[in-house]
Amino acid sequence: MDITFLGHACFSFQIAHKNLLLDPYIRSNPLAKHINITDIKTDCILLTHGHYDHVEDVVPIYEKNNAPVIVSNFEVTAWYKKKGYTHVHPMSCGGTFKLEDIRVKMFPAAHSSSMPDGSCGGNAASFLLSAEGKNIYLAGDTGLHQDMQLVGDMYTVDIAILPIGGNFTMDIDDALIATKFLGAKKTIAMHYDTFDLIAIDKDYVQKKIQQSQQKYLFMDIGATITV
Ligand code: NI
Ligand code: MN
Repeated sequence: MDITFLGHACFSFQIAHKNLLLDPYIRSNPLAKHINITDIKTDCILLTHGHYDHVEDVVPIYEKNNAPVIVSNFEVTAWYKKKGYTHVHPMSCGGTFKLEDIRVKMFPAAHSSSMPDGSCGGNAASFLLSAEGKNIYLAGDTGLHQDMQLVGDMYTVDIAILPIGGNFTMDIDDALIATKFLGAKKTIAMHYDTFDLIAIDKDYVQKKIQQSQQKYLFMDIGATITV
């Protein structure tokens, strides 16, 4: 599987001939000016919650890609359905969405969720993406919570994608505990530096990671890794 970082909390996952896109927010991301959303091809758009910095580019990508399925909680999918974007898969915590051999299970996140127009966005979620024998934990926006330990007990987490920017989510100190709870072999950092409120102190972050001896990856926007 190839994982591409598209900035902020947006990633794409290329698994065999299927592409899954997570939380698209590119056009207004000042750090992602070199990413062109018309280049993005996807079969499925996963949304952890309804905040604008996770859903901004859903509509143009949906239209450009001939209606990929939008997978999210009931309220988020209902909002898109009402607007005429009808290819949706509503689910809730505990549920699993299947796309051929790919499985996406929904878990709780400690965060809020509202749509860009202020309407109810249900509960924020995390996902566990399982494909090709690998488990990737997609935390979405969340504070540290004990249920991450349950995920770590239930699954071998090969990669965790965790927010580290603080203010709206975990900071690096809490993320390092989350990595431990999840037993993640490797963590990809996200949701930092996009805005002033989530700017990180790079020296502090690097020092804490070094002390923890955990493996953290800071991907360039547009970069791809193969796992
Ligand atoms: Ni959020
Ligand atoms: Mn966010």
